[in-house]
Amino acid sequence: MSSSVTTLVTGGTGTLGQALLPRLQARGHDVRAASRSPPTDDEVTWSRMDLTTGDGLRAAVADVDVVVHTASSPLGDTEAVDVDGTNRLLDVAADAGVANVVYISIVGMEDIPYSYYEHKLAAERAVEESEVPSTVLRSTQFHQFVHEILETVGRLPVWPLPTRMQLQPVDVDVVADRLAEHATPEPSGRLDPIGGPEVRRLGELARAYREARGRWRPIVRLPIPGRTVGAFRDGKATCPEYATDSPTWEAWLDATYG
Ligand SMILES: NC(=O)c1ccc[n+]([C@@H]2O[C@H](COP(=O)([O-])OP(=O)(O)OC[C@H]3O[C@@H](n4cnc5c(N)ncnc54)[C@H](OP(=O)(O)O)[C@@H]3O)[C@@H](O)[C@H]2O)c1
Repeated sequence: MSSSVTTLVTGGTGTLGQALLPRLQARGHDVRAASRSPPTDDEVTWSRMDLTTGDGLRAAVADVDVVVHTASSPLGDTEAVDVDGTNRLLDVAADAGVANVVYISIVGMEDIPYSYYEHKLAAERAVEESEVPSTVLRSTQFHQFVHEILETVGRLPVWPLPTRMQLQPVDVDVVADRLAEHATPEPSGRLDPIGGPEVRRLGELARAYREARGRWRPIVRLPIPGRTVGAFRDGKATCPEYATDSPTWEAWLDATYG
């Protein structure tokens, strides 16, 4: 990797962004990162930008060769951030002559009726239809995502969960490795998706979490009607044919909780 590649990571403070920054540095990139609340104490050149308003966007993208776009707002205004914000970023990237916008997307989005996924799908299409060359990687859920759900439910005396949902949690480091490999001025187009080593039921993941946390609470199957959970139950969010030989959920729990 030539040391002259300047790479901007949007969402540099996020779970994936944090995993990407050291990998890009190790590959010799001149690394920049942006978010609404950037830290100051880092080797990375940080800038403040907001995708919903466009504030700081032009400055963040100036003189950049590659943009790895991980910023997203799953619990916020997903249309403003993920759709409008991505379009804003693409316009600025086109003006700046960016050589490759690398976009992280989600496995199975078109088969799962959920507004965040609809907006991610629109953003993914905008990236692929943009005049800016691009690379798109779809991933299954990160271990941290499953962990967040279980930490929330874990505060209750009884854990009501749609236990039959199928997930294929993946280590974020493995996703970051794949993205860093393709963060080059040569776009790769649509990559094969990436998934964790195993397709698992949420109930099994919850039992392993309960053991790791030593919290002996009953796990109760919550039958959630509707097409969204139904799609997860049917395995639409998984890609077993693209399973990676990467740390399992139990290995991640072990590394996190010892
Ligand atoms: N989590 C998963 O399981 C998973 C699975 C597959 C794909 N993905 C995709 O991977 C990407 C990263 O996910 P993640 O879990 O790392 O997300 P995350 O931890 O929630 O981080 C989101 C990042 O976006 C930034 N951001 C949010 N709103 C913004 C705005 N208006 N303007 C600028 N920056 C903004 C946040 O920083 P500030 O708050 O400082 O602005 C943060 O750095 C997302 O696109 C997601 O769809 C995630």
